[in-house]
Amino acid sequence: MRAPCHPLPLPPILVCVAALSPAPAHHPLPAAPPPPPPQILSWVDDDGDAAGQTFCDAGCGVGSLAIPLAARGAVVTASDISPTMAAEAARRAAAALDAPAAARATFRTADLCALDGFYDTVACVDVMIHYPQADVDEMIAALSARAKRRLIVSFAPKTLAYSLFKKVGEFFPGPSKATRAYLHAEADVVAALEAQGWTIRRRGSTASKFYFSNVLEAVREA
Ligand SMILES: C[S@@+](CC[C@H](N)C(=O)[O-])C[C@H]1O[C@@H](n2cnc3c(N)ncnc32)[C@H](O)[C@@H]1O
Repeated sequence: MRAPCHPLPLPPILVCVAALSPAPAHHPLPAAPPPPPPQILSWVDDDGDAAGQTFCDAGCGVGSLAIPLAARGAVVTASDISPTMAAEAARRAAAALDAPAAARATFRTADLCALDGFYDTVACVDVMIHYPQADVDEMIAALSARAKRRLIVSFAPKTLAYSLFKKVGEFFPGPSKATRAYLHAEADVVAALEAQGWTIRRRGSTASKFYFSNVLEAVREA
């Protein structure tokens, strides 16, 4: 089994980037539930075959993907490295889902590099922001070993605008603005996926008031 991956420190950056990248174990719980990742759910809805499929949501946060997947009939195993997040996701699932749907979703505390089991789809949404590319390569290898058909990952793209944000943020150090965030070149993420035998089927993006991320759906070539 692979060693769990751990984030490395990075210079302080602007608070607006901090909104998407708190340190994993101390992730503050959002007051309002975050919206479900629309890009991924629209793919799931377009495919129309979520019911009965197994999903692993690695780094599930408060369950913004896991809960709507279970509501669509999927069997969801969700996990987070933070026990607080895993417990909050379980609490929100119990509150939001009817009994049969709630029974289809399980939540636990785990490092995504130390998961077990096999799933039709493995999703890892907005987790890679916490890790440098070398760890992302390791994470993609670990997640690939768990995914039978499909791997969905999102990452904050290394664009000129984001890179400038980070650069400017380095001039404003301070506890309220300090965090860790890693941007990734899409080519590097795609290369890591292809090295594990995946082919990119769909590309998308998600955007919020604070940030955007790119989403890749990778499948095993027939
Ligand atoms: C920005 S939040 C995204 C949460 C959720 N995927 C979503 O889209 O709403 C990142 C989450 O990744 C979790 N995380 C970070 N490193 C992890 C790891 N190695 N294994 C599992 N979860 C991890 C954090 O605790 C946090 O809940």
